[in-house]
Amino acid sequence: MRKHHKCANSECKTCECGLCCTKINNFGVKRSGIDILKNVNLHIHCGDLTAIIGPNGAGKSTLLKAILGEISHTGELQFLDAQNNGTTRPSIGYVPQKLDLDSSSPTSVLDLFAAAHTNMPIWFSYPQKMRERVRESLARTQGEHLINKRLGELSGGELQRVLLALALDPIPHLLLLDEPVSGIDQKGLELFYETVSTLRKNYDLSIILVSHDLSLVAEYADRIAFVNNKTIECCGTPQEVFTNTKVIQTFGLDWSNRFRRDEKDRVDNALMV
Ligand SMILES: Nc1ncnc2c1ncn2[C@@H]1O[C@H](COP(=O)(O)OP(=O)(O)O)[C@@H](O)[C@H]1O
Ligand SMILES: [Mg+2]
Repeated sequence: MRKHHKCANSECKTCECGLCCTKINNFGVKRSGIDILKNVNLHIHCGDLTAIIGPNGAGKSTLLKAILGEISHTGELQFLDAQNNGTTRPSIGYVPQKLDLDSSSPTSVLDLFAAAHTNMPIWFSYPQKMRERVRESLARTQGEHLINKRLGELSGGELQRVLLALALDPIPHLLLLDEPVSGIDQKGLELFYETVSTLRKNYDLSIILVSHDLSLVAEYADRIAFVNNKTIECCGTPQEVFTNTKVIQTFGLDWSNRFRRDEKDRVDNALMV
């Protein structure tokens, strides 16, 4: 199990994984000849949980897919060490916003992991070692009990945790999470954030999380990037972003009162909303 030292958020230090930060410079994405994102600049420190927020259709999922390499982009995407030298491309784990599943399919959670890790046809019985590995993976996201379930019978929250466990096996350098807009209840959502936060502490992952729950973002994120009008209009600490006029206007909420207290009260403050 790879584990590396935590980067100080304020300093740029190379972790044992060799990565220090992800830098996006003058990034742009076009689809069908139309600009979806342009002039995007973002700096993500290794070990940070960076949340991406913004209205529907702003380009949040597009940004993740472009970082992943699933769709092409212009501008620079660099993975750097502390000396600002480019490193080899890091391994990236990804949980998509939605997955079109055939609910009648017999494919189980175990089948999904086996397909990802081996070329074994799914009608074979799996070796005990494989079962143990999958159970260990699922334990990272509190999903051991889901191992024999069919994918179609999982709730939205359970599916999300299974996909998260899959994205973490093996542990990637960079984890991209695109939170579903619907299908997960508040309890499931809180469990998900709790799990992600624990993972980050244990594994020192860089996480980019597209989020729709501003209150959970305020509680858990180190940094927030606000995507609007095809670009990142504002980026900083939760306090900086939630007191930004454009953010307040877009979400139609007055968040400013929440950040008048000391930083140590941030969590309690977030939960009061
Ligand atoms: N394959 C595509 N072809 C053309 N436009 C697309 C495609 N996929 C997404 N878009 C457009 O890109 C914009 C951003 O989409 P998306 O990244 O999914 O937004 P978000 O995740 O912020 O809701 C939307 O206007 C959407 O209609
Ligand atoms: Mg999206």
